[in-house]
Amino acid sequence: MTKALEESVEKAERMAGHKLTGAYVSVGGPHISSLNSHGIVAVSNPQGEINSEDVDRVIEAARAISLSSTRKIIDVSSRDFIVDGQGGIKNAVGMSGVRLEVDTHIITASTTNLKNIERVLEDLGLENEGFVFAGKASADSTLTNTEKELGVILVDIGGGKIDIAIYVDGSLSYSSSIAIGARHITNDIAVGLRVSLDSAEKIKLHLSKKLKQNVASTVKKTPQLNFNELNLPENVNEVSLKTLVDDIIAPRLEEIFKLIFEEIEKSGFGQMVPSGLVITGGGALTVGMVETGKRIIGLPIRLGVPDRVSGLVDEIIDPQYASTVGLLLWGSNNIMTSDAGFKNFNKIWKDFSIGGSIGKFKNFFKQFIP
Ligand SMILES: Nc1ncnc2c1ncn2[C@@H]1O[C@H](COP(=O)(O)OP(=O)(O)OP(=O)(O)O)[C@@H](O)[C@H]1O
Ligand SMILES: [Mg+2]
Repeated sequence: MTKALEESVEKAERMAGHKLTGAYVSVGGPHISSLNSHGIVAVSNPQGEINSEDVDRVIEAARAISLSSTRKIIDVSSRDFIVDGQGGIKNAVGMSGVRLEVDTHIITASTTNLKNIERVLEDLGLENEGFVFAGKASADSTLTNTEKELGVILVDIGGGKIDIAIYVDGSLSYSSSIAIGARHITNDIAVGLRVSLDSAEKIKLHLSKKLKQNVASTVKKTPQLNFNELNLPENVNEVSLKTLVDDIIAPRLEEIFKLIFEEIEKSGFGQMVPSGLVITGGGALTVGMVETGKRIIGLPIRLGVPDRVSGLVDEIIDPQYASTVGLLLWGSNNIMTSDAGFKNFNKIWKDFSIGGSIGKFKNFFKQFIP
C-alpha cells in the first residue's frame, strides 16, 4: 500500500508542480459501521435565539456514546433538530426555545484500520486532513437533492468492497459496507473460462464495452463473443455469450444484490427510499448490473456519475470516479470555508474555477486517467 501511494503522491506532485503536504482519505470496507444518536441540551440564553454554540453543544452531547477502544468516530452529521419538542428542523440557529435536541448520524471505523492509514501517510510525510466515508463521498458527487429528500440508497461497488449510504428526509441516516466487490466477478470469469485474472479482467471490461444496452437481446442475437482483439495469451478466442453472462456473471450479481438487500433490511429504512438505488464505483458498469439489481431489490436503479460539479473533464464523469470527486468536493469545500471564509458552496466552486485551480485539476485528472 505504501509503495502504490508513494508513486501516486510523486505523480501528483510532479503534475501540480509543488509538494503535497496533506491528504483527505476516503475509508470504507466492512470495518465501517454507523448508529443514530440523540442529544439534548438547555439553550444557553432561553430569552434569546439559539446560536451556533448551542448547536455545537447539542451535537457534542449526541457524540457522547459509549464506544469500545477498537472503534473511532470518523463523522457526525445532524439529521434533525428538535426545539421545545417541535421536530423537522434542519437548521436551529436563530430559532427561540429553551430545550434543543438533535438526531445525529455517527459513522465509526476500526481504530487499527485508521492507524494503518495514518502510518502510511506519516511515512510519506503527509498530514491527514481528515477521513471521509467513501459512500458519503460518492453520494456527495452524484445524488440530487430531490433524491435525498425523497429517500435514496447510494451503493458504491468497488473492487473489493461495497459502500452503502442511505439518505432519508434529506439526511444521511445509515452507513455500512460489505466485503464483496467487482473483483469477485473477475475471479469467477477466470475460474469459469480457465484463464488468468489478467485475461479475465480484460474480458470483463471488453464485455461491458460491447454490451452497453439491451444485454438480454444482445445475448440472444450474438451467441458467440470474439476476443481476438484482446490478444489473450490463453487459447480462448471465442466463448458463448450466454455462458459468460448468464452462467458465470449473473449468479454473482444476484449474490451481490441479495447482500445489499439484507443491508437495506438491516437499516430499517427499506420503506423510506422511493428514489431507489443509485449505483457508482467501477463495478456498477458490469453487464447486467442494473437489470439484476432492479429484479432482486424491487426498487428503481440508476447509474450514478459525478455530475454534481461542473467543470470536470468528461472522462471523470464516470461512476468509477464518484468517490474521488466527492473527496475533491469535500476537500475544496473545507479548504475554502476555513481559509477564505466563503459560505456558499456554489460560489466557492465558481470562484474556484475562475481562479484557474480547476484547470489544474483538469490536467491533473487528464494525466491520471490510464
Ligand atoms: N467498464 C467496466 N465494466 C465492468 N467493470 C468495471 C469497469 N470499469 C471498472 N470496473 C471494475 O470496477 C472495479 C474497480 O472499481 P473502483 O475503481 O470503484 O474500485 P476501488 O475504489 O479501487 O475499490 P474499493 O472501493 O473496493 O477499494 C474493478 O473490479 C474493475 O474491474
Ligand atoms: Mg472505491
